[in-house]
Amino acid sequence: HTIEGGSFQWSAPSNIALVKYWGKKDNQIPANPSVSFTLNNCKTITKLAFAKKENQDTFSFDLLFEGKPKEDFKPKIQKFLERIEIYLPLLKSYHFTIDTQNTFPHSSGIASSASGMAALAMNFMSLEKALNPEMTEEYFYQKASFLARLGSGSACRSVKGSVVVWGNQDNIKGSSDLYGVEFPNAIHENFNNFQDTILLVDKGEKQVSSTVGHDLMHNHPYAEKRFTQAHENLDKLIAIFKSGDLEEFIKVVESEALTLHAMMMTSMPYYILMKPNTLQIINAIWKFRNDTQIPVCFTLDAGANVHVLYPENVSAAVLQFIKDELVGFCQNGQYICDEIGRGSNKL
Ligand code: PMV
Repeated sequence: HTIEGGSFQWSAPSNIALVKYWGKKDNQIPANPSVSFTLNNCKTITKLAFAKKENQDTFSFDLLFEGKPKEDFKPKIQKFLERIEIYLPLLKSYHFTIDTQNTFPHSSGIASSASGMAALAMNFMSLEKALNPEMTEEYFYQKASFLARLGSGSACRSVKGSVVVWGNQDNIKGSSDLYGVEFPNAIHENFNNFQDTILLVDKGEKQVSSTVGHDLMHNHPYAEKRFTQAHENLDKLIAIFKSGDLEEFIKVVESEALTLHAMMMTSMPYYILMKPNTLQIINAIWKFRNDTQIPVCFTLDAGANVHVLYPENVSAAVLQFIKDELVGFCQNGQYICDEIGRGSNKL
């Protein structure tokens, strides 16, 4: 098959890790396995237009963000193309126009690299599939996740599925360091439609890029113990997803969030990525949970924002609590209501 030109469009969601990926080896191989919930509302929508070109010696692309040219993202895309070219030799045969937008506010402190790289990888796979129509669906999604990983590690968990594991774990069938897989076992109904309300505490630029962050785990005094702990916590979650034990879920998830931040506080150089309001929110969640016995907990990514996680059947009470007691700690009172989703979508 040869194709002169055309376009595809995909959306890909953000995801929130329960067991955190923090630390990597060469070629975006994670130092430990991680597992995440795919989000539903926070996503990137990317249209990829392509046209066959004469000169096939270099990459050629234009980048639009929310309809306007975006020069400062270009080096990241260029690097991504260089990394994936050996797996997608077609890339130098086309000129691309990459037109991308996010459903969440631009500088919300919500990382768009996972959803952005996943959406781009899906589009490239659509082009590859157009050239090789006999490709299986399994191959399509596996390779899409593989490519997304080379863009941004956690992006490989934004391709397909609601609960996604990335990184080899002996007792999770099909798990791999090279791509994310849907959690293969049945999951207790307590986790159906799980809610994630993202409290925007600090919408500024990330203090520490994740590249720098992962690097801090080299020669980190607690690295080896941490990597072992991630395997153990993933084991615990395997049991929790089966039993539906929300009390145990809360323990693992909150401990993972605090451990991620503890790693940053104990690296050299060291960072505190939480803000005073992050701690206010955590303490308020603990008090609310203690007072009401409602199974609500928090997780954090590498920043000050707080993800509030809870089952759908307690939504009314938790949202009321958020409005009454937590919104005051958010920058401009901003928060985003999201829930567990299923992965990327062809539009
Ligand atoms: O995908 P990266 O390299 O931006 O790393 C993401 C790291 C965390 O968000 C902190 C944890 C995770 O597993 O998503």
